[in-house]
Amino acid sequence: MISRTIEEALNKQINRELYSAYLYLAMSAYFETANMKGFAKWMRIQAKEEQTHAFKFYDYIIARGGKTNLLAIEAPKSKWTSAGKVFEEVYAHEQKVTGFINSLVELAIKEKDYATFEMLQWFVKEQVEEEEHVSEILAKIKAIGDVPGHLFYLDHEMGKRE
Ligand SMILES: [Fe+2]
Ligand SMILES: [Fe+2]
Repeated sequence: MISRTIEEALNKQINRELYSAYLYLAMSAYFETANMKGFAKWMRIQAKEEQTHAFKFYDYIIARGGKTNLLAIEAPKSKWTSAGKVFEEVYAHEQKVTGFINSLVELAIKEKDYATFEMLQWFVKEQVEEEEHVSEILAKIKAIGDVPGHLFYLDHEMGKRE
């Protein structure tokens, strides 16, 4: 069993992961309209990944005999002005999520819930990778020049993500 405190905190994280999926899907749609198909594909895959994160928390709550509570997902915005602006926002968002994961780790320690602590280690590592990948892409956009014409080749590269 998990405590009510842990259960509530994990349910909130399901919501945050689904919000991330929603945000990245909105970004994918933005890139579709900007005719940047590679970036759009990358974001769509990113959205899927966030869904799998939500499902990991969902499955874990059930495995521990807890109760899932699916909260309302906030609508993301739908307009950005450039690829660079999108990735600046993704980077800030992922750093925020890292903060939430760290808070969950602290809570697991405080509650002496070692199984939850162990489960969260996957997310601790995942956040390191997420921040690294996104900051690399952001640096590339800045180096090339944050205008669609310059980003043609990077768009092609981004489209290779499977
Ligand atoms: Fe995530
Ligand atoms: Fe993420």
